[in-house]
Amino acid sequence: MTPVLTVDVRDEVAVVTLDVSDAPVNTFTRAVRDEFVALLDRLDHDQGVRAAVLLSGKADVWIAGADVEELVALRSAADAEQLSRLGQALMDRVERMRTPIVAAINGACMGGGLELALACAYRIASENPKTLLALPEVQLGLIPGAGGTQRLPRLVGLRGALDMILTGKNVRPKKALQTGLVDEVVHPAILREIAIRRARELADAGGRDRLAQPRPGARRRTGATQRLLLDDNALGRAVVFRQAREQTLARTHGHYPAPLAAIDAIRTGYLHGRTRGLDAEAKLFGTAAASDVAQQLIFLFFATNALKKDPGVPPPAPPPLPVTKIGVLGTGFMGAGIAAISAQRGVSVRFKDTDHTRVLKGLAAVRDVIDDRLRSRQITPTEFDDQMMLVSGTVDYTGFRTVQLVIEAVFEDLDVKRRVLSEVEAVLPPDAILASNTSTIPIERIATGSARPERVLGMHFFSPVHKMPLLEVIVTPRTDPQVITTVVAFGKRLGKTVIIVRDSPGFYANRVLAPYINEAAKMLDEGAAVDAVDRALVAFGFPVGPITLVDEVGIDVAGKSGEVISDAYGPRMAPSLSLQRVLAAGRFGRKGRKGFYLYDEAGKKQGVDPTIYGLLPTGANRSIMGDAEIQRRSVLAMVNEAARCLEEGVLRSPQDGDVGAVFGIGFPPFRGGPFRYIDTLGAEAIVQQLEELNDRFPPRFEPAALLLDMAHKRARFYPISD
Ligand code: NAI
Repeated sequence: MTPVLTVDVRDEVAVVTLDVSDAPVNTFTRAVRDEFVALLDRLDHDQGVRAAVLLSGKADVWIAGADVEELVALRSAADAEQLSRLGQALMDRVERMRTPIVAAINGACMGGGLELALACAYRIASENPKTLLALPEVQLGLIPGAGGTQRLPRLVGLRGALDMILTGKNVRPKKALQTGLVDEVVHPAILREIAIRRARELADAGGRDRLAQPRPGARRRTGATQRLLLDDNALGRAVVFRQAREQTLARTHGHYPAPLAAIDAIRTGYLHGRTRGLDAEAKLFGTAAASDVAQQLIFLFFATNALKKDPGVPPPAPPPLPVTKIGVLGTGFMGAGIAAISAQRGVSVRFKDTDHTRVLKGLAAVRDVIDDRLRSRQITPTEFDDQMMLVSGTVDYTGFRTVQLVIEAVFEDLDVKRRVLSEVEAVLPPDAILASNTSTIPIERIATGSARPERVLGMHFFSPVHKMPLLEVIVTPRTDPQVITTVVAFGKRLGKTVIIVRDSPGFYANRVLAPYINEAAKMLDEGAAVDAVDRALVAFGFPVGPITLVDEVGIDVAGKSGEVISDAYGPRMAPSLSLQRVLAAGRFGRKGRKGFYLYDEAGKKQGVDPTIYGLLPTGANRSIMGDAEIQRRSVLAMVNEAARCLEEGVLRSPQDGDVGAVFGIGFPPFRGGPFRYIDTLGAEAIVQQLEELNDRFPPRFEPAALLLDMAHKRARFYPISD
């Protein structure tokens, strides 16, 4: 293997550059670790070297963390614990080196990468938007396992460390300097020179005692020392730990053990010192790594990464066409979101609606989204101006002659959609692509009448567009492969996780959501309490309950989408009486401040509206359905439909279905997705439960043929080791 570390000794300072040449990012693989140990040996013995600087040869990444593939290959908690102890020993050694090491950080410094930086004698971050520091382990169901839970709190204080470790969030250089996470921030152009200078100064300051001394050259170390004093109070710390635990439990409903384990590891360090803290960290890392939750979260990590490399069609995939200017039809809620995220990625947007007032409203909505990024300092005022300049509005089709892609987001009405399509086609260049953001209408129906049906497809975004990570690209049998690769590449450029879905009513996400919501509403028909249904499904792991969701998206919107789905799929999707009656009573949900729940002036959800029961078939809340029954009915209705989507080829793979459900409709990530959930319970058990339910509620729970077949063969969607 080609070496990944190159060493250049300049005036007694070893300038070490890490570059894993055959990979896009630097990760801590076993091979890198081995080479790193050899480097430390050399630094220890080479009397001509007094200090070292660690740089990355990659433009955007310093060290992205551990090699997740290697973690997955671990077979047991004991193996994972062992790996953690190895990492800890390495970091301890770095910290105790005769030759101080300066971490010169340019680009992403994540997980094990940051743990290494924490063990270095001095940290300098470059002023580069790509320089981000984080300990994202909890997002994979893990905890930092190479001393991070012990070193970080000493550096940034207890609360600062909890904030980083429990959320996994990115810290930018400026903030890192304020909190004491790094000692200095410099322009990337002088990072190397300054790092070498600091290394020499550290060596001059001499010996190991330097760690206790104020560091030379530090521009500023605000806050950190002060905070350390505050956190140095056992009583105060006990309160902080208790609050962190309570908040974590409230947020995770106890489904995610890793954040609690991280709190325990940090706490042990505070109570019993570093050695016991590290011991706790290694053990807890081992348990976390072997947990089902970590397996599911790591699966999702790999599945989304694989989608990033997926062109959307089988090989040979035609290269995507360039997209530099798009047209967006409809400046409403979705159109504005699409325009905003496109401008953020440097794409020109021509924005059209039927009248000037609506266009102005749309532009204001775009501004709001971009302004949020300005306020949170993710962009500079100049970038804000540049992005806003990319969006222009019109009430006719001027400016559409030069667009490469049109995204239609007008009313959900087939006639309107067909009409705007033929209007815009008349002015577009011949190879322009037409995408509809319809939520339910089959693309084939919209494409009927198009002069170029092979250039028509669906781009189904989720609301709110700037926050929701999923994009369903809906393809018809006629869609040209290059149109698909172009739109998939464009979706990725917008930062979305893209799945390909075959054209059919409801596509994938809304199709599996429909029976889930319908089942929840049927339980209301039977007299279940609104909040009991919501609570049970939140306890299952959904971010909000199904009835709250209906209020959020709009009861009218849910009703309309339910109609399309029930027309297409027949009796098993027959709408509930409850939803129909509430809609007939003129309640539209949160937007009209009248739904199943009460809303205050600001639109904030209050309790269930007691008058709602007067509209429901039983006239009151009289059922005492348990959580397990509520969860079983709603969730099985959803996963059974997901299996049908796979069986019918609406989905390409179980992976697409799992990623789509988690990122599109909030299926609990720790369960991996509907197909992983079926595997966890076993197809046989799922079929048995479906049959029982179908006896009670025919034909809503008739098992999908695919599930029957799998139950018969005792098959799984994923091999056991996945
Ligand atoms: P909206 O009502 O906020 O916006 C629709 C806009 O289209 C309005 O500004 C309207 O004036 C404009 N419009 C109507 N006819 C037009 C024409 N001939 N030319 C140009 N503009 C025209 O609706 P929303 O929520 O933005 O939905 C738009 C589309 O996105 C619908 O197809 C909807 O099903 C779909 N969608 C909606 C989601 C949601 O959560 N709201 C999620 C995913 C898709």
